[in-house]
Parts: sequence; structure tokens; C-alpha cells
Amino acid sequence: MARRKKIYEGKAKTLYEGPEPGTIVQYFKDDATAFNAEKHDVIEGKGVLNNILSEFFMLGLGQIGVPTHFLKRLNMREQLVRSCEIIPLEIIVRNYAAGSLSKRLGIDEGTQLPRPIVEYCYKDDDLGDPLVTEEHIAAFGWASQQDMDDILSLALRVNDFMSGVMLAVGIRLVDFKIEIGRVYDGDFQRLVIADEISPDSCRLWDIKTGQKLDKDVFRRDLGSLTDAYTEVARRLGVMPNNPPAPGKPQLVN
Ligand code: TMP
Ligand code: ASP
Repeated sequence: MARRKKIYEGKAKTLYEGPEPGTIVQYFKDDATAFNAEKHDVIEGKGVLNNILSEFFMLGLGQIGVPTHFLKRLNMREQLVRSCEIIPLEIIVRNYAAGSLSKRLGIDEGTQLPRPIVEYCYKDDDLGDPLVTEEHIAAFGWASQQDMDDILSLALRVNDFMSGVMLAVGIRLVDFKIEIGRVYDGDFQRLVIADEISPDSCRLWDIKTGQKLDKDVFRRDLGSLTDAYTEVARRLGVMPNNPPAPGKPQLVN
């Protein structure tokens, strides 16, 4: 088989040129990093879980009319996505205080926020993805005012969707991070949800027990990361190796 052209290798994913122009194969690695890669480990099975969970969330968003880069899952570790130009911002939506917000403002983790708070970080690992305001974004031309209006509305729609989906399986969506890309259709540009949505990029707490089911398990050494992600996948009914229902043939793709 011909070797594929690697386009980019990130901390948790590698991107390869896709089979058609304008497509990319997104490969989910087992690497876990935190604190700007100061902490690193390889956690067997993490990539498979994130691939399947991200597919689940992206498909769900597509079904409610939120555009995403997702095209189809190719196998246990890879998905085909539309190639897009990533806006250099990490868009964070918070429903409850946690992590850097709690640290910065001295608010106890778990405090419900009066309304969802949207924050922007400039995507630059060398700078540690610093928090920026809309003033910086406009002044440095990272996104236009129209983009910012669209980004805010997409972020809030993702929040409503994800909060509802997680609530239905007894999980609180504390906060999450998304990335947004531009795709060009002729002269028009559209914004789409890109990258991944997975327990690597969300905070997910069991509603009854408060147990953490996200990457904080790794960041804070709280136990098995794959057990936590498997629990999320199990509750959502997307476990990779779900045995087929007895007597029912299943399509394999
Ligand atoms: P924070 O509280 O550390 O700022 O994180 C807020 C949310 O963003 C949390 O759900 C984890 C996610 N996140 C990422 O996906 N990537 C990152 O590099 C960081 C720092 C946070
Ligand atoms: N993704 C970041 C890193 O690799 C930080 C984090 O998620 O905590 O270091």
C-alpha cells in the first residue's frame, strides 16, 4: 500500500492527506498530554474511544444542523474529515467553574455559573494558548466580527446539544473546548466545527457522584483514563466492541 502523505502531527492526532482533494484522514493516537505536553503518557485504547466518541458527537451536531468537518469514520482509529482552515482560537464554553477559571478567579470548582461563559484562547503552544479578548482577535485579524458572531452562536448551540446529550446519561457537561474551521464553497466561506469533541476536550462529571469522566483523570492522576472514557462510551451506547444483538445481522462498515 502506498504511504500516505502526513500533513501534520499534533499531540493527540495525526493528519494525512485524504483520498479526494479537500479531504483529510484524522488518525487518533493513544498519546495523552497535559500542561502543554509537560506531562505525557501513552494510554492504550484512548485513540479508539476518542475516535468513536467524536464521531458520535459530530454526527449528532450534524443532525441538528450544526455544520462540522466530519465526513465518515473509516476504521477504529481514523475518520475522514473535510479539509478546513483552522481559526487559531480555542473556544471554551463553561457551565460550571473548574480548571483555569477556578484558579484565575478563585471560584470553587463545581459552582454553577449564572450563564454559560465563552472564552477564547490564542492557539499557540509556544505561548501556552493564552486567554485573549475579542479586541485582540479583531486587532490581529484572527477572525472578523461576522466570524465572531457565528463562532459565538455555534459554540452555544454545541453547548446546548452536548449538555442535553450528557444530561440524558447522567453526566454534567462542566465545560468544553472546540475549534472552528473555514471551508470554502466557491467564493463563500462557511464555518464548521473541526478537530474533535471528546473527553479529552470536555469536563464531564457524573451527576450523582461527581466522579470525573474526562482528561482530568489523567491531568490529576485520578485513576484509569480508559475506564473513564469507556464509561462515557458505554452510557452513550457507542462502545466500540458492543456485541451484536442476538439473532440480528449487523452491517459492518
Ligand atoms: P481549562 O479550565 O484548563 O482552561 O480548560 C477548559 C476546557 O478546555 C476543559 O474542558 C479542557 C479543555 N482544554 C482542551 O481541550 N485543551 C487544552 O489545551 C486546555 C488547556 C483545555
Ligand atoms: N492539550 C494540552 C496539552 O497537551 C493541555 C490539556 O489538555 O490539559 O498539554
